[in-house]
Amino acid sequence: MTEPAYDSEGDMMRPEGYRRWVFVGSALGLRYVQDGEPEDDGPGSFHNIYIQPEAYDAFMADGVFPEKTILAMETYTAGTREPQSELTGGYFEDVLDGFSVAVKDSERFPESWGYVTFGDGDSAAPFPKARCHDCHAKHAAVDNVFTQFYPILRR
Ligand code: HEC
Repeated sequence: MTEPAYDSEGDMMRPEGYRRWVFVGSALGLRYVQDGEPEDDGPGSFHNIYIQPEAYDAFMADGVFPEKTILAMETYTAGTREPQSELTGGYFEDVLDGFSVAVKDSERFPESWGYVTFGDGDSAAPFPKARCHDCHAKHAAVDNVFTQFYPILRR
């Protein structure tokens, strides 16, 4: 299994090859209302989520995400038009505009799960707990993971 790796500063290295992992689902525009954030209209962005095949097998077998599970999430803007297109409706995944992971690594994170958003570099620092972890802990169906939105992880 591809395991999470970190540099000497404790930043997580961008995982390689995740597009070949198991694709657990795509959500469009999901968001929870947070204080001070305006509600926006429009479809929002696509979120594509992948998990290592070994972690997928383990979860399907016993309902537990094993240590070193990584869920990788790409976000894409929702496109509606192509030049010269005769499309009349619908949205497609247009521009890749974000890449984040959730990683279960109790050796690193006291609350087991860490959350990282990667920019242009090869590594990035995990977010403080309040920024990501707490919403996942509160709303996600199984062990901080939003399995309620991923059809093939609903058991
Ligand atoms: C207000 C709630 C909320 C906060 C805060 C939040 N998330 Fe999430 N996150 C969600 C929801 C809802 C999903 C379900 C899938 C989706 O959005 O498409 C999700 C899914 C994910 C996933 C896919 C795996 C999983 O756990 O289901 C990753 C990776 C992720 N979020 C990273 C982050 C990072 C990084 C941060 C902090 C910068 C963050 N999240 C903060 C609500 C939140």
